[in-house]
Amino acid sequence: MLVLRPFILADEAAALAAHRELEQDGFDFLGYAWSSTHSWPQTVQLFEDWERGLNLPVGYVPACTWAADVDGELVGRTSIRLALTDFLATRGGHIGYAVRPEYRRRGYATEILRQSITAAHARGINRILITCDDSNVASATVIEHCGGELETIVDDPIEGRYRRYWIA
Ligand SMILES: CC(C)(COP(=O)(O)OP(=O)(O)OC[C@H]1O[C@@H](n2cnc3c(N)ncnc32)[C@H](O)[C@@H]1OP(=O)(O)O)[C@@H](O)C(=O)NCCC(=O)NCCS
Repeated sequence: MLVLRPFILADEAAALAAHRELEQDGFDFLGYAWSSTHSWPQTVQLFEDWERGLNLPVGYVPACTWAADVDGELVGRTSIRLALTDFLATRGGHIGYAVRPEYRRRGYATEILRQSITAAHARGINRILITCDDSNVASATVIEHCGGELETIVDDPIEGRYRRYWIA
């Protein structure tokens, strides 16, 4: 059974391993909390703060960054942005997720997104924007499995081709 939960101190080795693994996909697994501190305790504290809207860097919105845990194994993560900036409303979207390579193609991303949507709804987000690279077939499939309706495919000189989906 997959559960989404806050990261904890005991996740350090697995979370840092996941961060390195996801670099191969060009995906920033631990984001600015990690890159600005390179300290796991501070990263965990920042995730907790940012969920509560505290100590946000300029341009950041409150967000829930949670571990995806299957029987005590860190299989991936989600980040649920609780508001949209101009960038998030265009390219970033409300929810970002990743699954570690060894755990892929088991339906975990679909379950992470399904539970993330429930969590977003519980926090009053009624229309959820999710984006992915046009070439990311796996992510597009995950979004469509979760009810995503394609709004448009954007061809941007900097961001490249990406898909914008909405989930009610
Ligand atoms: C995209 C990603 C999250 C998918 O994770 P996953 O756990 O393998 O996804 P699921 O197992 O839930 O698969 C969902 C669907 O995508 C399909 N799929 C998965 N990987 C695929 C691939 N490489 N190519 C084509 N289809 C793929 C699955 O077959 C499944 O479809 P089905 O149910 O019709 O069989 C994962 O590959 C990943 O973390 N990639 C790097 C980070 C990333 O791209 N995140 C998304 C940013 S928008």
